[in-house]
Amino acid sequence: MTILVTGGAGYIGSHTAVALAESGHKVVLLDNFSNSNMNAVENIRSLINSEVVFYKVDIRDRDALALVFQAQIDLASPISSVIHFAALKSVGESVAKPELYHDNNTGGTKTLLEVMSEFSVRKIVFSSSCTVYGEPDVVPVDESSPFKKAESPYGQTKQDCEGLITEQCSVFNDFSSALLRYFNPIGAHPSAIIGESPSGVPDNLIPFICQSVAGLRDPLTVFGTDYPTPDGSCVRDYLHVMDLADAHVLALENLTSGRCRSFNLGTGTGTSVLEVISSFKEATGIDVPHSLGGRREGDITAIWADSSRAETELGWKAHRSIVEALADAWRWQKTLA
Ligand code: NAD
Ligand code: WQD
Repeated sequence: MTILVTGGAGYIGSHTAVALAESGHKVVLLDNFSNSNMNAVENIRSLINSEVVFYKVDIRDRDALALVFQAQIDLASPISSVIHFAALKSVGESVAKPELYHDNNTGGTKTLLEVMSEFSVRKIVFSSSCTVYGEPDVVPVDESSPFKKAESPYGQTKQDCEGLITEQCSVFNDFSSALLRYFNPIGAHPSAIIGESPSGVPDNLIPFICQSVAGLRDPLTVFGTDYPTPDGSCVRDYLHVMDLADAHVLALENLTSGRCRSFNLGTGTGTSVLEVISSFKEATGIDVPHSLGGRREGDITAIWADSSRAETELGWKAHRSIVEALADAWRWQKTLA
């Protein structure tokens, strides 16, 4: 089984590529390096100690994408399934450049699905997000929770891509998909050989904390302390990227012809921003320099996952603690600077 991993040089894609290879799958990576570089590919190769095929291709380039599928047939290693990570993911940038997000994320997914169809590839695992739920009425959130109006063009692209994939399921009765709705992935491979490398000032909490502690950024501002939560700061479900990578392997191995399913992937525990700060201290012994600030526009108050469907149907559960994830994130950060 050869698995095409789009966005395979990125943060979650690189960890998943390693997990797939360790589970005996043949991995073909594809990326346009819009948010990554060749180092990640080399680092994946060094971690699994073998050559991994890589194509520098933009998923919006239909001809180039078709050449990849054809090249793998010519190499006697045809693509049997796709794990589709390739997307732009900055909520703020999507507000400034909505067209870019619709073109890259939704347009790219449409092209990918067309090429898959041309080559009769009927299996896909898709990187969706808890952002599809917006501000939930009830927490924890299970997969039957309604989609709210998207809070950003980025969120809209995730809803739209889920729609495109669901449509394929109704067109081809042998199609199978897993729409994986991640909550907040954090951490890095414990080897610190791969991790998250955000460009510019990180929007996300953990990369900002790590860079701030490393002296590369100002002290953290806690965005809002007057939310209706136990300590007034926002609550999220932070899951280790290694657990998330394992979920992709299980989702892939459990794809079943004719079944198109969605899965929430989180720990099932909500953690506030102030609790993250104390967990970082517990993980590293270092105090996070911070100040208390006002709310960030667009933030939801509290969300965490009910992942019982993933546990029942895939046999997946997040095992790693937030302290372990923060220790791994910091170990990775120290290799950067
Ligand atoms: P990332 O930016 O590290 O990885 C995405 C990769 O896709 C990058 O290497 C980028 O260069 C590549 N890419 C982007 N557009 C492309 C295109 N048109 N053609 C080819 N390659 C392209 O991001 P990540 O955190 O690894 O996220 C992976 C997926 O998971 C994305 O779809 C993202 O929306 C989704 N997701 C991420 C999070 C998160 O917090 N990190 C949460 C929920 C969902
Ligand atoms: C977490 C918490 C902030 C930075 C985003 C996307 C979502 C999904 C996951 C992809 C919030 C607080 C942050 C800072 C802070 N991604 N914070 N100071 O907002 O839950 O979700 O990533 O699909 O779509 O929106 O994650 O890491 O940005 O923030 O206090 O400098 O940390 O207010 O409560 P978020 P985040």
